Amino acid sequence: MATESVKDYLNELVATQGLFYIKLHQVHWYIKGHGFFELHEKMEEYYDELTEHFDESAERLLQIGGMPYSTLQEYIDHSVIKESPDNKNLSQEEMLKLVVGDYETLRDELSKGIDLSDEQNDDVTNDMLIAQKAHVDQVIWMLWAFLGTNPPKV
Ligand SMILES: [Fe+2]
Repeated sequence: MATESVKDYLNELVATQGLFYIKLHQVHWYIKGHGFFELHEKMEEYYDELTEHFDESAERLLQIGGMPYSTLQEYIDHSVIKESPDNKNLSQEEMLKLVVGDYETLRDELSKGIDLSDEQNDDVTNDMLIAQKAHVDQVIWMLWAFLGTNPPKV
């Protein structure tokens, strides 16, 4: 949306990253099957990387005069990634497809912010979001490779 401010956008990103951080723990805890040891550790690596981006987004928002959401309720209300309470008994493949789908949602959210911060000449936010997206693109490619296919065209 052309009138959206970078501050409002960053707060939506903070909510999204905060919720996704918890959601990756759900997969870390509930994933089952032959790939358990590898995937359990991989999800930990993912949420550790995500929490760095989450903190970076919130601190950038503070730097430009915003007030980051900081409660779980705010994350639920404003995240573009939604909770999935019923995901606990899915197969490994089904669970990973949902994870990659959430990463694609995060990628699209980052793309939106890259365009917005560019339009509004906020170079530092733009640079931060590009670096975050580079990581997310890599995760998406690797998850699709693990699932035995190429990433869908974007
Ligand atoms: Fe753990």
